[in-house]
Parts: sequence; structure tokens; C-alpha cells
Amino acid sequence: MIDNYKNDFEKFLAHTDEKQILLEEISKEIEKYGAKSLLDIGAGNGLLSVPLSKKVENYLAIESNKGFATKLREAKLEVIEGVFPLEIPGAFDMALASHSISYEKDSFEPFIKEAWKSVKSRGVLLIITYRGQEDDWTRLMKDLGESHEDHNRIGFNQIIELLASLGKVKTRKVITRVKTDNLEDMIQALSFVASDGKPEKKEKFLENHLRLGKILSEKYQDKNGYFFPFQHFFIITEKSG
Ligand SMILES: C[S@@+](CC[C@H](N)C(=O)[O-])C[C@H]1O[C@@H](n2cnc3c(N)ncnc32)[C@H](O)[C@@H]1O
Repeated sequence: MIDNYKNDFEKFLAHTDEKQILLEEISKEIEKYGAKSLLDIGAGNGLLSVPLSKKVENYLAIESNKGFATKLREAKLEVIEGVFPLEIPGAFDMALASHSISYEKDSFEPFIKEAWKSVKSRGVLLIITYRGQEDDWTRLMKDLGESHEDHNRIGFNQIIELLASLGKVKTRKVITRVKTDNLEDMIQALSFVASDGKPEKKEKFLENHLRLGKILSEKYQDKNGYFFPFQHFFIITEKSG
């Protein structure tokens, strides 16, 4: 039986510490660079962007999803509804793209170039992305016979190369975790990630239910239940004065 994407997303959200950890780690970067203004490209539904907006004096969200843009406006955030790259008024101490950048060169190249224009001199562009190299998720997908790891790695390296041509680049890893009491909740939460919004991908992931259960029980179970780590890369590019 295929549950719908929204239920899976809610299951994932209910069991992940992702938003909290990302908020803490992005806040550290805001403090480190003394950023007072933030451009949040692909701001999402507000779970991360609303608390983030409170960390700076001047905040602008860019969001392509109409429903999310409406939610952000209702939360009193300033929002431009549209698909980035688009022209942005003014310049910011920090431009952020948290899980909103694609690994396709045709897509990330104009995105990054336009985002860079919105960064003030001595400001930073912070890109957050998954799976720059082998991690628990890519190993799990490989074990299940599905792998896009090479494709992701090429995209990641190209992104770093482009950023290095613009400014000084630093990367660091941040780990978040999905935790559940039981196996079924873990499988449902992970199926949200595997599906990428496509029911056929979820179906394929769940075809491996037995093998998946075995791997999760062997490697990702402790006395508190099930856990699964996700690796995020923080790619920080500093603009010189
Ligand atoms: C995975 S969510 C991440 C939300 C939030 N930044 C976070 O890290 O929790 C990606 C969001 O970016 C938006 N998005 C993706 N590409 C975009 C683009 N080119 N322009 C504007 N919004 C975009 C999507 O609509 C979605 O709300």
C-alpha cells in the first residue's frame, strides 16, 4: 500500500532533528560572520525560515511554491514568489540556499552566479546540500541496488569548482538523524526521502522491504529504537572586500 507523500513527509518531520540542527548550525554561521541581512533562496514552508528570519535585522525569502510563499507571508516574512534565478533588490551579508540547489550544471550555474551577485563584499554565500560523497544513505541505496552516487559526486565537485572561482570556499559536515521507536515508522520516514516526490520511486524502494528491514535492524538499531544519519554539507564561500 502506497501512503501519500504528505503523510510520509509528516512522518519524516516528526522523527527528524534536521530543522533544529540546521537552525543551530546556520545560526552559528550568521554569528560568525556578523550577518545582519539574509537572503533565503528556497525558504520552504517556514519551519526553518521563520526562526531564521528572527536571527537577522533584514530578511528576504525567495520561494517558488505558491502555498509556501503564502504561508511565509502569513508569518509576516518578506517574500518574493518565483523561481530563482531572478533579480533581487539590494545586497545581503549572507545568501543562503539550503537544500534548494540542483546537481545539474545547467541549473546550478545560473543559480549560483545570480546568488553571488546578491552577496555584499565581505559577505558569504552558504549552500547546504546532501550527499557530496559516500554516506549512510548512498550506502543503503547501493545495498538495495539503486545508486546515483557518482552523478551526485560529479555535481558536488562541479559546484565546489564554480564556487572556488568566485571566492574562498570552506566546507564542513553536519549530521542530522531520523529516530523512531519501531521499524515501520523508520521505513515510512525513509521512503519519503527515497521517493523524491515520485510514487514510482517510493514503490521501488518498498519492493526491498525485507532486505531494508534486515539492514536497518542490523546496522541502525540500538536500545532506544531505530536511527538513521543524514550528512549535510555546508559550503561557505566568502566574498573578498
Ligand atoms: C527541500 S526544501 C528546503 C527548505 C528549507 N530551505 C530547508 O532547508 O528546510 C526546498 C525549497 O526550495 C524551493 N525551491 C527549490 N528550487 C527553487 C528555486 N529555483 N527558486 C525558488 N525556490 C526554490 C522549493 O519550493 C522548496 O520549498
